[in-house]
Amino acid sequence: MNPKQTSSKTVLITGASSGIGKCTADYLATKGYQVYGTSRHPESCPGIKNGFMIKMDVCNIASVKEAIAHIVGKEGHIDVLINNAGFGIGGAIEDTSTEMAKALFDTNFFGICRVLQEVLPVMRRQSGGLIINMSSIGGLIGLPFQGIYSASKFAVEGLSEALYKELSLSAINVVLIEPGDFKTEFTANRQIINTTHHADQFQRTMTVIENDEQTGQPPVKIAHLIEKIINTPNPGLRYAVGAFDQKLSIFLKKILPNRWFDQIIMSYYQLK
Ligand SMILES: NC(=O)c1ccc[n+]([C@@H]2O[C@H](COP(=O)([O-])OP(=O)(O)OC[C@H]3O[C@@H](n4cnc5c(N)ncnc54)[C@H](OP(=O)(O)O)[C@@H]3O)[C@@H](O)[C@H]2O)c1
Repeated sequence: MNPKQTSSKTVLITGASSGIGKCTADYLATKGYQVYGTSRHPESCPGIKNGFMIKMDVCNIASVKEAIAHIVGKEGHIDVLINNAGFGIGGAIEDTSTEMAKALFDTNFFGICRVLQEVLPVMRRQSGGLIINMSSIGGLIGLPFQGIYSASKFAVEGLSEALYKELSLSAINVVLIEPGDFKTEFTANRQIINTTHHADQFQRTMTVIENDEQTGQPPVKIAHLIEKIINTPNPGLRYAVGAFDQKLSIFLKKILPNRWFDQIIMSYYQLK
């Protein structure tokens, strides 16, 4: 064991300046975990009581390397990695430029790849660890006018499913969290792509989406789930979390004929 290793678990949470990441960072720090949260602007965001806020842009490999080296230098180990940083786009697929789509994938998908590639060697050296990737219900169901976002979360699902298998011979566990709607800064931080040819439809659907988010559940529910997963010896791959009807929709997608299920989703988002 590295002499710098402490008895408390070291937890790294990307995107801990607001929302789910901040709430989880604060909660785990009060529970005695050694928490490192990240932001692109740590100097201008609220700190973590009894934890550390450090700089990391998941789109910049030098920034990722620097942050991981800092934590390993201080603690000697990273026991839990929570890949949480992400943002959304609200817009029709046909109106979203490839540049915008690439920028979203650069954070939501390639950001996870960059952090994983730096943290996995640390976890292999210490012979264990837990990786939690923040997916979404949108990673299981293609959401209208959030198509690029949904695609990025489908990619996170595929990546995590494969990683779970690749790491099955190691003591490193991989978990996906699939939240429904939670009340965070996600709604305000979403990039909106204005549309001209289906403006009314877009507006109707976005109103449903934003209302669901802003009346959504508190992110502390996810913080509690994460603590439970950390303390589960052999966690499963998938944990859906959210309102009953949102978890039900994941189940219905598995059992209903595609056409029926898609009709339900389209009707819900006022697309017919
Ligand atoms: N809220 C929901 O209803 C919901 C539902 C399903 C899934 N999720 C997922 O949960 C995660 C957290 O979202 P949230 O709801 O907590 O949203 P949020 O309040 O907007 O927080 C997003 C976090 O991501 C960070 N971030 C964004 N781009 C980054 C980058 N390039 N490098 C590093 N950090 C970056 C932000 O940090 P800085 O701007 O300070 O760098 C911020 O801390 C996301 O992956 C989201 O897709 C949310």
